Amino acid sequence: MQSSIDSVAKLISNASHVTVLTGAGVSKESGIPTFRDAQTGFWEKHRPEDLATPEGFLADPKLVWTWYDYRRKLLDNVQPNPGHQAIVDLEKLVDKVTVVTQNVDGLHQRAGSTDVIELHGSIKKFYCFDHEHEALDVPFDLEEPPLCNVCGSMIRPAVVWFGEALPHKLLNRGITECEESQVILVVGTSSLVQPAASLPLSGYHRGAKIIEVNPDATPLSRIAEVVLQGPSGEVLPKVVASLKNLKSNSN
Ligand code: APR
Repeated sequence: MQSSIDSVAKLISNASHVTVLTGAGVSKESGIPTFRDAQTGFWEKHRPEDLATPEGFLADPKLVWTWYDYRRKLLDNVQPNPGHQAIVDLEKLVDKVTVVTQNVDGLHQRAGSTDVIELHGSIKKFYCFDHEHEALDVPFDLEEPPLCNVCGSMIRPAVVWFGEALPHKLLNRGITECEESQVILVVGTSSLVQPAASLPLSGYHRGAKIIEVNPDATPLSRIAEVVLQGPSGEVLPKVVASLKNLKSNSN
């Protein structure tokens, strides 16, 4: 494993731009339940399409509101883990680091990453259903969605629901960042959910080296230059340590 870690550090040391694409796995060691893991107790009997689609929201706004309120509260008791921290540390070792995440938990920003593209939105932000007018300071424990100050339509969480398109601008920026990177670290994602799963390919076709960090193999593993098989909270700090070592030896 150490030799793979050192070869990843070498690749990163030669890069001026690194993009880190993350999924649910990077937050696993913070104890964040995935969508399905959170579906315990009362929530178990509801189908994802009832809880996380525009149709489900319109059919039962109170139910969907309460589900997101519950998940937003779960986040209040968790902290970023050493994997998030290692991604922050990379910023001091590489000219440009862009984080592109499928997570809605905001943990990369809380850890200190300064350039984060939230492809699937944020569970801590809100806008109105009809016009996407932003709503600020939405309190916990409301029994139903509040109404938009501007147009009166219902306020909803600013997350991308099943069946919804990703915001064009964010997706395009994610593609551009991958295309301009020499190294793309793909961390904790099953690489199954489109369009995020194909982002690394746009960099790969322009010569970027793909590094995968995941305890399990994914469809992306095949094209990865190096696969670091393990939990990101253990593997990424080792990559950063090796990179620091390399940099201090070359000074
Ligand atoms: N470190 C790194 N990777 C891990 C860890 C860990 N400690 N634990 C698990 N993983 C890996 C799993 O092996 C799996 O490949 O993280 C991946 C998590 O996969 P998913 O739960 O499918 O998450 P993700 O790929 O982010 O899903 C994408 O699908 O559910 C929707 O919108 C939701 O953003 C989500 C999207």
